[in-house]
Amino acid sequence: MNIIEIIEKKKNKKKLNFKEIDFFVQNYSQNKIPDYQISSLLMAIVINGMDLDEATNLTKSMIASGKTIDLSSIKGLKVDKHSTGGVGDKVSLVLGPIIAACGGIFAKMSGRGLGHTGGTIDKLESIDGFSCFLSDEKFIELVKKTNISIIGQTDDLVPADKKIYALRDTSGTVNSIPLIAASIMSKKIATGADVILLDIKCGSGAFMKNQKEAEKLANWMIQIGKKMKKKIKVEITNMEQPLGKMIGNKNEVIEAINTLQNKGEKNFVDLIYSSSSILLIESKIAKNEKEAYKMIDNVLKNELAFKKFIEMVKNQGGDVDKIQSKNWWNPKYSLDVIANKSGYLYLKNSMILGLVAMELGAGRKTKEDKIDNEAGIELKKVTNEKVEEGEVIIKLYSSKKINPNIIDKLSPTFEINPNPKKHKIILKKIS
Ligand code: URA
Repeated sequence: MNIIEIIEKKKNKKKLNFKEIDFFVQNYSQNKIPDYQISSLLMAIVINGMDLDEATNLTKSMIASGKTIDLSSIKGLKVDKHSTGGVGDKVSLVLGPIIAACGGIFAKMSGRGLGHTGGTIDKLESIDGFSCFLSDEKFIELVKKTNISIIGQTDDLVPADKKIYALRDTSGTVNSIPLIAASIMSKKIATGADVILLDIKCGSGAFMKNQKEAEKLANWMIQIGKKMKKKIKVEITNMEQPLGKMIGNKNEVIEAINTLQNKGEKNFVDLIYSSSSILLIESKIAKNEKEAYKMIDNVLKNELAFKKFIEMVKNQGGDVDKIQSKNWWNPKYSLDVIANKSGYLYLKNSMILGLVAMELGAGRKTKEDKIDNEAGIELKKVTNEKVEEGEVIIKLYSSKKINPNIIDKLSPTFEINPNPKKHKIILKKIS
């Protein structure tokens, strides 16, 4: 077998078998095939597609390129959640403690943010002392003891995806449903959970710009999951607007804490209830949505989920006193965006808000950039809230002086209308 035959086969719209897929995945992962041949093959895949068998084989082969986590020594159904990347997306920080406080098992590996989207690991690392890189043994021990741990993905987990994704990013071959589905599913399945909830973000701030494409991706991932005996649940959610009121790192942790203390912002809380109830039902803890919502109410009102969060932070070395103190988040500079008329606010183009947050220092342009944990954005008003002319609607924060010209960039991110506009956070649930 050689790589040229495989490229020719895909160029001629033929189906690749497992051996051929595994040949290019393992050899490329071990630097035995050059980038130019794999980018040629990837382009043939983008143009001529793959069927479900091929995408499943690609998923399996990418998983086999590195280590996997074996969670089988932990009793019960282990649940995990993955978001395709959003702005202000601190769901895991709230969802995980809720699941654990209700008796479920939340064992999650997360990634870092890049570009306009944030990452759970960066948010957790804004907490002094918090360690996201534990040994597998420690991770499993914490999950067994407390029902929750969130750690970072290490480089030896699905290394083939890391290499292939970097090449796709620079060769115009990201945009292929089978390639995206295999890339996401390989990383999720390698981390060992039994049930995986996928939050596919849809809209300008997301990878999938429209619902039709998001649904297509969802169905591919559900089918791959079925073939690999994993239960996949999907929510397609609106990313035209950021989630909650905070975009950044420390400030998102603060918003997560407020939500765990039952003081969350409505659009964020709605998503939290929906995602948590799916996982509680799949964990066989709640019989139906009504029962799940009651359980979630209980752990939020009685701060049981908040206590779980504090327990997780403490167990992973984080300074729990500091994050509960008033001046933990203390940005030196801020700048206000003021309403130029009265009416109802409508937020949009969350990608721009994500890019501005990144420019303020809350995100990375390149993997090597250092994050400013004080930097970020606070939405002083949310969609369909009434604003008066002269009121602050958005506040920007940074440790560095903020150039006032940045405000011009934010004008496409909101409208002030005479009436509220229709708005929905959860677009569809699929399983
Ligand atoms: N996220 C991934 O992990 N992989 C893709 O291919 C696209 C988004």
